[in-house]
Amino acid sequence: MNREEIENTKSLAEAVHKIFGNHIDSRSYVLKTESMTESLAQEYDAIGKNHRQETYQRIAEDFKKRTGCYGVNFPRTAFNVGTILDIGCGSGLLTLELAEQTNGNIIGLDLSEEMISLAKDNLARRSQEKTKEIKEFWKKIPEYCKPSQQDLEKLEKNHPLLERINYVRGSVYELEETDIQNINYVVCRNALHRFQYPERALEQMYTVLSHNGKIYIRDLRRDANWQIILKRIGEQRWQTQTLVQDYIGAMASMFTTEELEQTLLSLGIKEFNLSSGEYLPKEISAKEGLNEYAEDTEYVCIITKT
Ligand SMILES: C[S@@+](CC[C@H](N)C(=O)[O-])C[C@H]1O[C@@H](n2cnc3c(N)ncnc32)[C@H](O)[C@@H]1O
Repeated sequence: MNREEIENTKSLAEAVHKIFGNHIDSRSYVLKTESMTESLAQEYDAIGKNHRQETYQRIAEDFKKRTGCYGVNFPRTAFNVGTILDIGCGSGLLTLELAEQTNGNIIGLDLSEEMISLAKDNLARRSQEKTKEIKEFWKKIPEYCKPSQQDLEKLEKNHPLLERINYVRGSVYELEETDIQNINYVVCRNALHRFQYPERALEQMYTVLSHNGKIYIRDLRRDANWQIILKRIGEQRWQTQTLVQDYIGAMASMFTTEELEQTLLSLGIKEFNLSSGEYLPKEISAKEGLNEYAEDTEYVCIITKT
């Protein structure tokens, strides 16, 4: 794959044809597998860990704002937001943010064994970091309110994040057959396009939701401005051709907002709100050089179970 050639393409269809040899004129599934495995999983995780932490933080904030998922941490039992299911959680970087920014119990589900294993490593690392932070904080507080040795041991053994996050390897299509039920919030970020049968996936997400529960879907729009989509590949992704190929293949199976709307209506789902995925005020994105993220390239769909 030649970078210059791809960067000179005029449309998604042209790029897909150059890379995959397929002619596309509508939503098409050109990726070989749904599951992200081996080097693809490792590379996706590495970029996320090293360059996207702020993005994940902002998405978790956006999720709370749009779904009204607010709880208080002390005590956790008051206004507890319940269970959040992160579908297609990948290496769990958003899952971690959801856990840190809410007081819910979080389930991260992914088809890929590698992704689940990376997610568990990321959770262990983040927990250790948090434990260290708390211990540093405890050192600074006055002697009379310092925690006991017992508290310290408890913290080492059971960091709150470890207790609240559970990673499960499984498929979105089989949710109904698991004990993952009565979910208060489903999050599905950058994953809907990955499903070869999105209707079945949406049906399953809706089924396991509790009454009044909400689904937060965030993904790219297949009909977004092609020059912006190309820009969003970014220097880090260009270092790894597999990632660029995957990104362009993934674009071919993204929904347009009109298509998603039609799909939801055909499933009998009527209570939803589809809007632009912007999560930063334009002035901030311009200042931070994130213009391509501020443009209308992503959508967010909030579905409420009635
Ligand atoms: C592009 S990643 C997104 C990861 C994460 N949500 C994020 O925002 O970084 C899509 C994930 O969906 C997973 N996936 C694909 N098909 C799936 C299925 N049928 N059930 C569950 N997960 C699936 C893939 O393995 C991959 O990890």
